[in-house]
Amino acid sequence: MTQVTDATARSTASPQNAEHAHIGLTFEHVSHWFVSEKDAKLVLEDLTFQVPDQQFVAIVGGSGCGKTTALNMVAGLIKPTEGRVEARIGEEVISLPSHRLGYMWARDTLLPWRTLQRNVEFGLEVRGMSKAERRARAGHYLEMVGLAGSERKFPQQLSHGMRQRGSLARLLATEPSFLLMDEPFSALDAQTKGVMQQEFLTIWEEERRTVVYVTHDLTEAALLADRVLVMGQGYLAFDIEIPFERPRKLDELRFSTEFAEMNRYLYDRLLDAQSGGRA
Ligand SMILES: Nc1ncnc2c1ncn2[C@@H]1O[C@H](COP(=O)(O)OP(=O)(O)OP(=O)(O)O)[C@@H](O)[C@H]1O
Ligand SMILES: [Mg+2]
Repeated sequence: MTQVTDATARSTASPQNAEHAHIGLTFEHVSHWFVSEKDAKLVLEDLTFQVPDQQFVAIVGGSGCGKTTALNMVAGLIKPTEGRVEARIGEEVISLPSHRLGYMWARDTLLPWRTLQRNVEFGLEVRGMSKAERRARAGHYLEMVGLAGSERKFPQQLSHGMRQRGSLARLLATEPSFLLMDEPFSALDAQTKGVMQQEFLTIWEEERRTVVYVTHDLTEAALLADRVLVMGQGYLAFDIEIPFERPRKLDELRFSTEFAEMNRYLYDRLLDAQSGGRA
């Protein structure tokens, strides 16, 4: 039987969580309107949740429900009309621009005038890292995402999937302590996606950072995350703990009975949320 529990009820006093007792992310009664000359549109309504430091949280929900808007608030790119959003690493409150906060957008944002290698080096250059060191680090992450041999190519010479992998290498190269990811693997073919998910998860399981990961793919959310937030239109509908042990072997997990049950449960909650339901 799949254990489906309400993550908000999880006790932070348990020994397992005691060392991660810091709160990494807070949304407190967050509402947001996008205002134009013609009208004002309410896109987020009274969003409240917290994420413990080093937790991997996935956000799923229908197109236009406000996921990217919420992520942009964590990055400090959008200030909520009402309420409070705060990202922390330990005691430190962070927002962009900060090399400790890594953001990977759904669309790749590689600089067209730089080679792939120099794109990945960009964040390291800004931090004043020596040429030899940043070369080595960029090379390491490019190899990890399967782009060794393409270092000298420009973004326009790469496929969409390759550019997305390049963006991931650039994100990981800066070794941020807090990761915001918006559909990072959506342009990849199934096989490459599987490889990248496992690579990324293995790194994360070794180095645990707070991750907020937006995806349309429920399977991906359940494979990677500790917890899945299911959004309805502008609101938080369900907060679901994903109980699978770590480290996870995704090729085994994805075909297990427990996983099929969890997937089904998430799918049903997404349907509930899309018809206005909530916990
Ligand atoms: N800058 C903006 N000005 C006006 N409306 C906006 C702006 N950005 C987003 N919106 C609107 O806010 C709503 C939420 O958008 P958002 O991009 O957060 O959705 P999403 O959940 O990320 O969708 P998707 O899954 O398609 O990426 C949408 O109705 C969108 O049209
Ligand atoms: Mg979006």
